[in-house]
Amino acid sequence: MRLVRRISDRSGTHLGTLRSEGHLLDDVSRKDEYYNRAKQEGYRARSAYKLQQIDDIANVISGGDTVVDLGAAPGGWLQVAADRVGPSGRVVGVDKQRIDPLDHENRNTSTIRGDITDQRTIDRITEEVGDVDVVISDMAPNMTGEYDLDHARSVHLARQALGVAIDVLAPGGEFVAKVFQGRDLDGFRADVEDPFEYARTIVPDASRDSSSEVFLVGRRRIDAPVTEGENLTVEVTAMGQEGDGIATVEGYTLFVPDAEVGDSVTVVVDAVKPEYGFTSRLE
Ligand SMILES: C[S@@+](CC[C@H](N)C(=O)[O-])C[C@H]1O[C@@H](n2cnc3c(N)ncnc32)[C@H](O)[C@@H]1O
Repeated sequence: MRLVRRISDRSGTHLGTLRSEGHLLDDVSRKDEYYNRAKQEGYRARSAYKLQQIDDIANVISGGDTVVDLGAAPGGWLQVAADRVGPSGRVVGVDKQRIDPLDHENRNTSTIRGDITDQRTIDRITEEVGDVDVVISDMAPNMTGEYDLDHARSVHLARQALGVAIDVLAPGGEFVAKVFQGRDLDGFRADVEDPFEYARTIVPDASRDSSSEVFLVGRRRIDAPVTEGENLTVEVTAMGQEGDGIATVEGYTLFVPDAEVGDSVTVVVDAVKPEYGFTSRLE
């Protein structure tokens, strides 16, 4: 009964007409299935399966990675992330609520209690970890039941998470953030596309209930001092293995075709990747 009311409150116009009673029952049994599995397998929250499924699809977490988990309480994602980074990796969970420490098998995990909208929390994250490989956010606002307001608040939290990711991610780093569907979703996706090589949207099976949540994934953070289409003059200082010249701009590598060491060449930037960019000569 509670579930049915929540569905009509939050998304009656979408789901009330589109979903049959059979779908609702599917959703309920799927929720129960993940809830029961979480109990049996020792996960603190059934949301653990969402991160497992997102990572199985997108491969964002690798062994040895440093991961920052925003909105981490009670710790389901922390458990999954700690497992996937392994003993040589590191996971920092952040939440405004207390997170009980994970058991002794997860010594590579620490927690910070703080509100992510407070700059002091972000400062504590950067003090705790240096370059970060992955930022994941399952943050959710306190639900009011008013669909547009809940959506707007979730986008606000996801943007805060994106800000943290831009601050702390190393080039090539990965980003995952939960957001409720609604009118600002496309705008947020465009904001994710900007500092990453590309973005994708994932709805894991464990999310396919009444919640309308999706996960935006930013792949391979780009932190380059040049942009595609930019014209600039560079000095070629080395040769690459493929025979292209190499120039550096603020430590960022640009490949310059048909050039020798010592050449000063005016180029246009054709493609910007996390670790290097490609150019064409303009003269
Ligand atoms: C869905 S729960 C996260 C579940 C968690 N991923 C897990 O697997 O156990 C959302 C969390 O976001 C946290 N949260 C919401 N707003 C926050 C904020 N401004 N700063 C820090 N945490 C926040 C809430 O306290 C809540 O614990």
